[in-house]
Amino acid sequence: MKNIAIVITLALVSTLSAESYFGSTKKGVAPVDNAFYKAECASCHFAYQPGLLPQRSWKKLMANLEDHFETDASLDTNDTKILLNYLLKNAADVSTGYKRSRKISRSIAKDNTPVAVSDTPYFKKEHREIAKRLIEQKEVKSIANCTACHTTAEKGLYGERYIDIPNYGKWDDD
Ligand code: HEC
Ligand code: HEC
Repeated sequence: MKNIAIVITLALVSTLSAESYFGSTKKGVAPVDNAFYKAECASCHFAYQPGLLPQRSWKKLMANLEDHFETDASLDTNDTKILLNYLLKNAADVSTGYKRSRKISRSIAKDNTPVAVSDTPYFKKEHREIAKRLIEQKEVKSIANCTACHTTAEKGLYGERYIDIPNYGKWDDD
């Protein structure tokens, strides 16, 4: 009896640790679940998920909204604080349960603070094979226009099977 109890306990302990190590990993990045963020940060472009950049990147980006990719996206101090708080809570380096967030976060050197998802090493590696003309065409325009190719970007799902590049179609790299 005693032995069985030990075996069961051991099995339980190893299941729990495997769960926290592998089992709880979700695909993609956490979807945006904040209406205020959508209203303020998705009027000019797609609502980039907080889990696409680490905390230090969001801090840097939010500290310089008046000079935001050659536009003025400034907000009042209180709104900036609320949004930064949301971004920090869900940033790539704390969203460790999401596989893509982990990969993005790990790809960035500690002394590097990119303010664009498209400047992160993981992103660059994943997108390096896309022909320039497919990015520059009018249906896409910019590699930052995630929803032009990723049909489920809003859900935080970026996997190959959900990619449909305008005037090219499905992506198949094997
Ligand atoms: C007035 C318009 C405007 C608003 C409002 C705005 N942005 Fe932007 N943002 C831009 C432009 C323009 C770019 C450059 C897009 C490109 O390269 O195609 C950009 C790019 C970005 C990028 C980099 C995308 C990439 O990976 O290349 C991030 C991240 C970003 N914005 C976050 C935010 C956040 C967070 C907010 C809300 C606080 C916000 N933006 C509000 C105009 C805006
Ligand atoms: C021109 C089309 C295009 C645009 C725009 C684009 N992507 Fe991609 N993305 C691709 C392709 C093609 C791949 C490669 C898929 C593969 O080889 O598995 C990819 C791969 C990815 C991956 C890795 C997915 C995986 O499961 O391996 C992520 C994450 C991703 N993109 C996020 C983004 C984000 C975020 C944006 C916007 C900032 C963006 N992409 C813009 C076409 C695009």
